[in-house]
Amino acid sequence: LWNPASIIDDSIAHVRDMVGDDGKVLLGLSGGVDSSVVAAMLHKAIGDRLTCIFVDNGLLRLHEGDQVMATFAQHMGVKVIRVDAEQRFLDALAGEDDPEKKRKIIGNLFIDIFEEEAAKIEGVEFLAQGTIYPDVIESAGAKSGKAHVIKSHHNVGGLPDYMKLQLVEPLRELFKDEVRKIGVELGLPSEMVYRHPFPGPGLGVRILGEVKKPYADILRQADHIFIQELRNHDLYDQVSQAFAVFLPVKSVGVVGDARRYEYVVSLRAVETVDFMTARFAHLPFEFLELVSRRIINEVTGISRVAYDISSKPPATIEWE
Ligand code: XMP
Repeated sequence: LWNPASIIDDSIAHVRDMVGDDGKVLLGLSGGVDSSVVAAMLHKAIGDRLTCIFVDNGLLRLHEGDQVMATFAQHMGVKVIRVDAEQRFLDALAGEDDPEKKRKIIGNLFIDIFEEEAAKIEGVEFLAQGTIYPDVIESAGAKSGKAHVIKSHHNVGGLPDYMKLQLVEPLRELFKDEVRKIGVELGLPSEMVYRHPFPGPGLGVRILGEVKKPYADILRQADHIFIQELRNHDLYDQVSQAFAVFLPVKSVGVVGDARRYEYVVSLRAVETVDFMTARFAHLPFEFLELVSRRIINEVTGISRVAYDISSKPPATIEWE
């Protein structure tokens, strides 16, 4: 019988066995479900012999970096090093508008920063990863730069020192729904554990074309209103993924007596089982109307809100 508590006990025993009495483990914490559950589990198994590195790339959602720190560092007492790398990511992305090139820039810079931080920590022998069973079986996935981002780096010349580390992958045999149940059992907040997926390149692929800080700031606010209202209306768990997309085009609007000429965001919400095909979510018009009004009234810089009615295929879920 599958039981989260016994899976946790077994995994903890296995980790302690592998890591020994004084082995140290490093983990790249993204705030996503998988790495969060690994962090909680390893913390339970080996306490402060776990060090997490959280790279804030400036492409996260509103307050996301602070929430990761609040949950893990303050609340659970996990040792987390937060690297504020927003400016480095913005600099690296400046002038680039090609989606795949943006993905590569973000992925490579993440690895560079992770390596720099890892090199500062003494005596680490193990690298933990949130690899789950579906990652193991379909390790290809052209777009999914997530779990394999570090592994794919193996191919690039000589291995950095930290790559000589032994891998600890306690979720390797688990499916996503099992990982979630384990997360809850380990005491992670359920909003974190049941969150929609968020792509590794973050807002970098939700700002169409060139990424700029003011665009990211506008998008964060619009996205936050959308998600907040989905939660308020008990719609969040009925859709598989929802977010706002920033369109760098200007449109005319009028607020009160004043004419506005500002940017456009599109809302995207889909229903899907496997993310390979998806139907746009048939959200109630009254709900969309309310979200649109709030965004235009509250977010300076947006004059128009659209709703994406494309399904996958032929459209993808993300816009880039
Ligand atoms: P698409 O846009 O291909 O998205 O229909 C399918 C799912 O994959 C996510 N996605 C990504 N995840 N790195 C990731 O970690 C990426 O580059 C990436 N691109 C898309 C997307 O959010 C959706 O859940």
